[in-house]
Amino acid sequence: MNRPRPARMQHVAIEVSDTDRSVEWYRRVLGFKLTERHAAFEVEGIPVELTFMRLANVHHEIVLVHNPKKTYRTKPRPEADFDGPPNFHHAAFECDNRDDWLALLDRIRSEGAEIVRGPILHSFVQPRGDGSWGENEAVYILDPDGHRIELFCDLATIDSDGTHVSAAGIRLQGTETEEL
Ligand SMILES: [Fe+2]
Repeated sequence: MNRPRPARMQHVAIEVSDTDRSVEWYRRVLGFKLTERHAAFEVEGIPVELTFMRLANVHHEIVLVHNPKKTYRTKPRPEADFDGPPNFHHAAFECDNRDDWLALLDRIRSEGAEIVRGPILHSFVQPRGDGSWGENEAVYILDPDGHRIELFCDLATIDSDGTHVSAAGIRLQGTETEEL
């Protein structure tokens, strides 16, 4: 049964308290490019400032959203976030391979971005893994508003029989997939 569904997840819109600061950060730390930026009410029915940024040659992969009429509060740090509405937890961006990820890790460090977790290998199979899931190597940083951003490589794929397959092509015996 092939019921209609989206092909893939593609972009994330992130609310920011200071667009200039966030544009500079996403450019400098992660290498995003600015596609275009628009003021609130430039188009009827859009009451927020929208800034489109990209990594690949698509119009946007992130949208920075700023509401000029909103009084922004500081977002609580993850370890102190015990009260409030359910929040979007993190957005993840993938590197093509481990070498690219390691180079990006160097860039993140040299640019002084705040690392809140990792670098870490999410694996319950590999000896240096943390016992968790996905087989990907990841690092988590905070953007200027405290949004958690993951940078990763080598996420496992799911074979047609549900077996998880590492980026190196190793089938992880005994893995379980809820739905095929
Ligand atoms: Fe993640």
